[in-house]
Amino acid sequence: DKPVITIVGSINMDLVTIADNVPRQGETLQGKQFQINPGGKGANQAVAAARLGAHVQMIGCVGQDSFGRDLLQHLSEQGVDVSNVEPVTDMTGTATIVVSNQDNRIIVVPAANNHVTAEFVETKRDVIAGSDILILQLEIPLEGVRKAVEIAKENGVTVILNPAPIQDLPADLIEQVDYLTPNEHEFQLLQKGLDKKELQEKVILTKGSKGVALYQGGKESTIPAYKVNVVDTTGAGDSFNGGLAVALSNSLPIMEACRFGNAVAALSTTKLGAQTGMPTGKEVEAFIK
Ligand code: RIB
Ligand code: NA
Repeated sequence: DKPVITIVGSINMDLVTIADNVPRQGETLQGKQFQINPGGKGANQAVAAARLGAHVQMIGCVGQDSFGRDLLQHLSEQGVDVSNVEPVTDMTGTATIVVSNQDNRIIVVPAANNHVTAEFVETKRDVIAGSDILILQLEIPLEGVRKAVEIAKENGVTVILNPAPIQDLPADLIEQVDYLTPNEHEFQLLQKGLDKKELQEKVILTKGSKGVALYQGGKESTIPAYKVNVVDTTGAGDSFNGGLAVALSNSLPIMEACRFGNAVAALSTTKLGAQTGMPTGKEVEAFIK
């Protein structure tokens, strides 16, 4: 039987505008391209893991609107079990993304994702309890994250928390998770007021083109990134997390699991859109060797 990976998290529609520059105050610019793409950190991680062939269950909320319907259909076409994604009376979450020659800028409106409360997560107790790995991010209410972690730990489920977008996290929450996957900016903010030693043992630090750093046993090791032609880094971190979870669920040692995650992330950046470049297991194999 395949290991079961459960994601409790956000589901967004990404409204992507591609332009050379971002407008200055009061300025109107012409862009080059516009796309409506499936996104949301939770859904991205679910799709990354599902494309790699894992058994993936998503827990979350969408609105009763066309975005919500499209996203549900898309997720299930990608092989994600959406029987625990509930439609709620709200808008579907959106991310307005500007991809310019300089950088990516994103505004997220959580909307339906705000309905993933502790009470909602409690109704999904059995789904979480029956998983091998639980992945979480911070685009749903923190109380929902806490409840999911609590249920997972009561049932021996391995927990990966991707602390994005970053916010203050209670020390007791961090204590309970098995792996934390911040980027450099998130890592800096996480370190405030937390026991450094304990934190570091759990951290898998993602550094983009500089690879991934681990701090286990008091020593730092770096797993280099793969070099590719980058088109869009949106969702690269999500691809890493999905890949990491699949590798861990297949009992790969941590260093190898990170290398696998790096390959998934690298391939994801070669196409425009958070989920567009996410590879299948076969594509990763062919790429790595
Ligand atoms: O991590 C990338 C994601 O963050 C995008 O898909 C967007 O929806 C935002 O939530
Ligand atoms: Na991409």
